[in-house]
Amino acid sequence: MTTNKTILRALSGEVLPVPPIWMMRQAGRYLPEYRATRAQAGDFLSLCYNPELAAEVTLQPIRRYGFDAAILFADILLLPQALGMDLWFVTGEGPRLSTITGQADFDALKPVGAIHDTLGPVYETVRILSRELPAETTLIGFAGAPWTVATYMIAGRGTPDQGPAHALKDGNRPLFEALIDRLTEATIDYLSAQIEAGAEVVKIFDSWAGSLKGDDFRAFALEPCRRITQALKARHPGVPVIAFPREAGAAYEGFARATGADCVALDNSVDAAWAAAHVQVDGCVQGNLASRHMVTGGQALVDETRAIVEAFSKGPHIFNLGHGITPDADPENVALMIETVRAGRG
Ligand code: CP3
Repeated sequence: MTTNKTILRALSGEVLPVPPIWMMRQAGRYLPEYRATRAQAGDFLSLCYNPELAAEVTLQPIRRYGFDAAILFADILLLPQALGMDLWFVTGEGPRLSTITGQADFDALKPVGAIHDTLGPVYETVRILSRELPAETTLIGFAGAPWTVATYMIAGRGTPDQGPAHALKDGNRPLFEALIDRLTEATIDYLSAQIEAGAEVVKIFDSWAGSLKGDDFRAFALEPCRRITQALKARHPGVPVIAFPREAGAAYEGFARATGADCVALDNSVDAAWAAAHVQVDGCVQGNLASRHMVTGGQALVDETRAIVEAFSKGPHIFNLGHGITPDADPENVALMIETVRAGRG
């Protein structure tokens, strides 16, 4: 592949001498410059909908660390808001939304075509970034997977076990399926618009995929991801898709093959040697240093980083954390991780 973008080369299946690197939640509260821009914006949602400031926080970790990819600054919950739901964030607690508990709530959602009225500023952020990023830095767009987004829409908040979403799935299957369907269609249009604005790769975050098992996993994690990936491939051939069915466990095996995703992102719990043998055989993998090392640092960070690079060195690999960096992380530990990866193997 004739590109100087190492992320795109890894996604096309190339085995690079040093894996390219970026980090989930790389723009975030662990960075003082993020906290300053967020304060300037007023609150988190105002930051998401302010293209200049959202582009600024996206660029901050690129300037500080020189990551190989930038991820659009936005949130997976902007899509339900664009479908007409109320959304707000409670400081120290997390997101709150109006809820979908019955047919009337579903019927009140806006049609898929209306999402762009709300999401225009996000596309503008992408346009700014595609102008301003360094030539070697890949721009990643993203959306939540239908199941994960549905868990927040049904409960109106984050839930430890996704109980309300499981209850609707088991108690009112037609309504639950209609919701997953609406979200699948909306996600295709949302990611498509990000690509048209300049996103070079898209990532589908299924943070709660691990609470689905067996037929439910196939129907509500794998199948929506397959539909989204296939629709995007038809509309935008050549744009790679990264799937993140977090905590899918053994179901990581075959996920890329079944969905058509170019890469699967591995969570904190996946053993790298197992994943090299069972997942990387199908193509690029991304991951998976445990995020806690960004808090604790030291020799354990160095040892674990080297072990992951080594385990995945025979196939295409993008180095990343297994989940987002947390606000209590030390920015120095991020620098140490990058230095360790780029120092080469061993
Ligand atoms: O990775 C990046 O740097 C890009 C931006 C990004 C954010 N959220 C910014 C954000 C991305 C890709 C997301 C995805 C997201 N949002 C997911 C999927 C990935 C995952 O972490 O599992 C989920 C489940 C959400 C929903 C969400 N947004 C929650 C549950 C919270 C509150 C929890 C928390 O970490 O505070 C958010 C808020 C949020 N999204 C913040 C950021 C930087 C923190 C908000 C703040 O500045 O106060």
